[in-house]
Amino acid sequence: MEKTVLTGQTLSFVADPFAVPPDEAVRHHTHGAVVIADGRIVEVGAADTVLAAHPGAARVDYGAALIMAGFVDAHAHYPQTGIIASWGKRLIDWLNGYTFPEEMKFADPGYAVATAERYFDLLAAHGTTSACSFCTIHPASVEAYFSVAAERGLRVWGGKTCMDRNAPDGLRDTPQSAHDDSKALLEKWHGKGRAEYVITPRFSPTSSPEQLEALGALWAAHPECLMQTHLSEQTDEIAWVKDLFPDARDYLDTYERFGLLGARGVYGHAIHLEPREEARLREVGAALVHCPTSNTFIGSGLFRLAALKAQGQRIGLATDTGGGSSFSMLRTMAAAYEIGQLSGTAIHPAQLLWLATEGSAAALHAADRIGNLEAGREADITVLNLASTKDIAQRSARASDLWEAVFPTIMMGDDRAVKAVWVGGRQIKM
Ligand code: GUN
Ligand code: ZN
Repeated sequence: MEKTVLTGQTLSFVADPFAVPPDEAVRHHTHGAVVIADGRIVEVGAADTVLAAHPGAARVDYGAALIMAGFVDAHAHYPQTGIIASWGKRLIDWLNGYTFPEEMKFADPGYAVATAERYFDLLAAHGTTSACSFCTIHPASVEAYFSVAAERGLRVWGGKTCMDRNAPDGLRDTPQSAHDDSKALLEKWHGKGRAEYVITPRFSPTSSPEQLEALGALWAAHPECLMQTHLSEQTDEIAWVKDLFPDARDYLDTYERFGLLGARGVYGHAIHLEPREEARLREVGAALVHCPTSNTFIGSGLFRLAALKAQGQRIGLATDTGGGSSFSMLRTMAAAYEIGQLSGTAIHPAQLLWLATEGSAAALHAADRIGNLEAGREADITVLNLASTKDIAQRSARASDLWEAVFPTIMMGDDRAVKAVWVGGRQIKM
């Protein structure tokens, strides 16, 4: 069995840093080593000990750089890659003005493949090794996403975005076709290599009750899959949902009543929740996904991370590109920190790094496979240079502990901080 040993600083989590003090949640080696074999991590420890135990292994030395789990982006829209950073609109106008015209282009499979290639190039540059993405209504957009990810060996989640109303001609399916196309894609892709299919109604305003019911039935028939959608992102959207579903108790109920609430449900945004919604989400163990750059960029509001974590909610972190304004999970952590500050809680760097790796992996029910530098997990690894620019280097040079050394990269880092990326034990960024 061929083995590779990566040496550098290593960072692993042994607990959730929201639940125990950050320093108890983390295992850090200043001179550490990670052994990779057959696409998995087989050992993490102090470099001296590990190197002595694996004398024949190939070695890659990253010096003082930080070796950690690859970033996991728990909510994204790869088809919106080309319209990221589009100016001046709030959610519904942004969807109609920028998103839907762009998503229409995915009727062309060639366009879908080219965009998927560009999207996964960007993820690699930014140290993101897994993503959970919406595709478009076109099955070819799903084929492109999973095919390109498979060529690169990435663990990814994705699904056909279903919409049968309040969307333009050419971008609507029907309850039946949404069900049947999703089922066919699920049967083809779910569990194939590292692909996982996600049942994907866009959000209640663009699905009729009949479509939500059809997708609820599909999920009941395939409970092994995740289901992703959007929930309570903007106040105008919530008012619209009330008009469209006058009998629903609240926004969450528009999903719940059609069988679209469950432990494997992944709900993007979840900013303006009612107490009943919070209680139900927690009770079923559903995942909420915090999308901080999107929430500030589209002007959606402040996600109550500390309060929701304290309730015991399952929470992941995500870019929500292209509503989010960055492909970088470093920038996303910085935005989560800023929203925390505006909400009166300073989120610790260990908590930010945990959300971007293990937290997102747990939101996707994959924390047994990815999200941590731990023996047995798949070898999806990101190596961070903690002095990647002059600005960052002059600050991290005076750090007196790990967190002071890491935080400047979280706040000011970009793809230049990502020194190397490994996926399934294979290096994809040098
Ligand atoms: N709600 C429904 N669709 C979308 C989308 O594409 N992006 C964001 N941010 N919110 C949505
Ligand atoms: Zn989204």
